[in-house]
Amino acid sequence: MAPVKNGRVVFKEYPGKAFVVPGKTVVYDESETIDVDTVPLDGGVLLKMLYLSIDPYLRRLMLPTEERKAHSGVPPVRIANWAVGVVVRSEDPSHNAGDHVLGLLPLRHYSVVKNTAALMKLENKEGIPWSAYLGVCGMPGKTAYCAWKEFAKPKPGDTVFVSAASGAVGAVVVQLAKADGCRVIASAGTHEKVAYVASLGADVAFNYKLVPTMKVLQREGPINIYWDNVGGETLEAALEQAATHARVIVCGSISTYNTAEPYNVKNLQLLLWKEIHMYGFLVGTLEPKYQEAFYREMPAKYAKGEVKYKEHFVRGLEKGPEAIVEVHEGKNFGKSVLVVAEE
Ligand SMILES: NC(=O)c1ccc[n+]([C@@H]2O[C@H](COP(=O)([O-])OP(=O)(O)OC[C@H]3O[C@@H](n4cnc5c(N)ncnc54)[C@H](OP(=O)(O)O)[C@@H]3O)[C@@H](O)[C@H]2O)c1
Repeated sequence: MAPVKNGRVVFKEYPGKAFVVPGKTVVYDESETIDVDTVPLDGGVLLKMLYLSIDPYLRRLMLPTEERKAHSGVPPVRIANWAVGVVVRSEDPSHNAGDHVLGLLPLRHYSVVKNTAALMKLENKEGIPWSAYLGVCGMPGKTAYCAWKEFAKPKPGDTVFVSAASGAVGAVVVQLAKADGCRVIASAGTHEKVAYVASLGADVAFNYKLVPTMKVLQREGPINIYWDNVGGETLEAALEQAATHARVIVCGSISTYNTAEPYNVKNLQLLLWKEIHMYGFLVGTLEPKYQEAFYREMPAKYAKGEVKYKEHFVRGLEKGPEAIVEVHEGKNFGKSVLVVAEE
């Protein structure tokens, strides 16, 4: 076969403290080609990308290296993300053509992977859609599962507040909290998202763009557990309305990822007076402890309909730059998945 274009999504320019600009800071580039029949594998595999996860943290990978190093352990300049691919050719006896794998893969159509130990072969005995391994049965689901188990310490009847509750992580947290007998308050940014989180079991669901979070929490609190996906003023309101000995699980801070200045939370003193425990975490740290239980439970529960999951598909790798900014603008309704190719 003649070489074909091997399109890719490239972080081209540091976006500063503002939203990513598709076509400028992140671009789709078709300058490279690949001959899928002859490209050397050096003992590895050739993968064709099927589904690529679009996660808020991709924005973080665009921070300048020094700042990124100072704030977390994310390795510098990694233009890759969680993806499901199918093996096209293999020189590795543990992988056969047609196998589906999950890995941190470059944002491109075809990739040669030499370090096949970094790939997870998906057996998928439950027969769930492959894309679910990027969401409810992938990194975001694992984020919710691991940190809920590690930090929430729920008691039946506890009141839990979840922000960005309709998203990939938030929707799983809502369901875990309900399964543990908690009363759930959930916020989201559109009428449809609010209706969806209510359908997941949230006892109180509201649109934070229409009703101030502080007002809702004043009425419905005090809260025993706050799952923070957004930071900023929402975190401040949650601390204000927290019960004594509340647990605050700091998962994300999306309201501050694209702003010129960091948001300085003004009432951290409440941690002292209310003896609040606040836990920041990165999923990769908790993963080894919970990985086995997660893969035993979550795909089976999803296959049986015991856990609900919604996906937001964007079709075409060339739409990658737009998809990356859209999760920061709230335009995704459910887990954002870029469909690169369909089988
Ligand atoms: N700690 C970890 O290891 C870890 C791992 C994965 C994800 N995370 C974090 O978890 C959070 C959720 O991630 P996800 O993948 O599940 O994303 P998601 O919720 O599927 O998508 C992001 C959502 O955030 C909401 N949002 C955007 N700007 C906002 C703002 N200014 N105020 C309030 N909400 C805003 C939007 O929903 P609305 O329409 O409702 O505003 C948007 O749809 C993110 O902060 C992410 O960085 C952390």
